[in-house]
Amino acid sequence: MDSFLIRGGNRLKGSIEISGSKNSALPIMAACLLADGKTTLKGVPRLSDTDSMSKLLGELGCHVLRHESPTDARQTGPALNGPLDIEVRDTTKNEARYDIVKTMRASICVLGPLLAKRGHAVASLPGGCGIGDRPVDLHIRGLQKLGAEFRTENGNIIGTVPKRLRGCRMYLGGAQGPTVLGTINVMCAAALAEGETVLVGAACEPEVGDCAEMLNRMGAKIRGYGTPEMRIEGVDKLIGCEHRIIPDRIEAGTFMMAAAITNGELVLKNCNLDHLIAVTDRLEEVGVRVARENGSVIASSTRHLQPIEMTTQPYPGFPTDLQAQLMALLCLADGSSFITERIFPDRFLHVGELNRMGGRIRKEGPTAIVQGTKELQGATVMCSDLRASAALVLAGLVARGTTRLDRVYHIDRGYEKIEQKLMAVGADVERIEEPSRTSSVNIVAAA
Ligand code: EPZ
Repeated sequence: MDSFLIRGGNRLKGSIEISGSKNSALPIMAACLLADGKTTLKGVPRLSDTDSMSKLLGELGCHVLRHESPTDARQTGPALNGPLDIEVRDTTKNEARYDIVKTMRASICVLGPLLAKRGHAVASLPGGCGIGDRPVDLHIRGLQKLGAEFRTENGNIIGTVPKRLRGCRMYLGGAQGPTVLGTINVMCAAALAEGETVLVGAACEPEVGDCAEMLNRMGAKIRGYGTPEMRIEGVDKLIGCEHRIIPDRIEAGTFMMAAAITNGELVLKNCNLDHLIAVTDRLEEVGVRVARENGSVIASSTRHLQPIEMTTQPYPGFPTDLQAQLMALLCLADGSSFITERIFPDRFLHVGELNRMGGRIRKEGPTAIVQGTKELQGATVMCSDLRASAALVLAGLVARGTTRLDRVYHIDRGYEKIEQKLMAVGADVERIEEPSRTSSVNIVAAA
């Protein structure tokens, strides 16, 4: 397992290209199962999660091809990615195996497309993960309302569609609010159902809208995405298309905080500030300057950080996926901050690790009370999940001395070439590679 050595104290300055969104790319790749013909996706980040999704699609009969990187005139930063082609060639294999599902919960996104297109799907039930319990009951309930039937056998959900799926009006919200991947799963299935589906309580996240836009390009009739009430008029057929994945708002927010915590200034290219309104609102209250300039976004701070209160919420509220990173930043604020986690109430594994670096954080139920301190110190810490790991990287960038971050495979799931991007703007981050690491090949999966 690879590790990072981060020698803290460097001020970050320069420009970073934000990658395509992981959380858009994964369900969009799965949605390609719905289409006849080839779909070409641009901006799919090279991550272990997108590799896992390619592998899963390969097992489900798709040919997945990553094109060469385009010529790149930039001076710094990692190479740009070539487009990804996905084409269904064999419709006889319908199982998402445990081995893949256990490494990537977004595998559940193949369920809706497989049921709608092939009438049969087997998916290993995802268990809990580093951020707590992750049920899929809302996915199943929504698909049942469209007419799919399910049974559970040996840890697998087996779904069948006796007749064609049929649109209906349904409420999709749960105890913690809407479900992002659940909304996408049901939307994908409804796109090929007979008649109209109205999803009330739909998730409004930009990643849902991105998938809806791709489906519409394929010939679907989806309206109201980005609002809690979506209308999907089912069609008989979807045809492959070209689509560009939206920029990763969570990666952008993480780099804004990297600028802030190092007293630096970063220019973020390919950053959609409209998707980050709650984040910029909170960061500005902390004392971080975020501004649009010449088509890019500039984030800077003089590191006089003010304490704040923040509660994670569904979009357009502050995203749970930036909670840990904000906590790292607030470790250095001038007073006590209150962070409440409303989406995944157990998503606090980073608290103990940040405290090992000198943070002063106390948990009370779903709230963390972060008492600001003047300095963090380097330590050996362990990544527990993707965003917790990003928080530890931020802490390492500013800590006195060296931070050793173990199990960075969690970061590799969701941050494309993070150490290269950070080094290009002045950070001192070294990857200690596991000897067995292999380089990726272009044909990621073949049917
Ligand atoms: C997506 O997960 C993201 N993953 C998560 O990002 C993100 O944290 C989450 O949305 C919330 O924004 C991907 O897009 C691949 P949910 P998802 O269903 O869709 C409850 C990251 O770090 N719920 O919106 O699985 C659930 O327990 C990852 O990039 C049910 O009760 O999350 C939670 O409390 C981690 N039943 C709430 O809904 C269900 O069937 C929202 O979860 C489904 C969810």
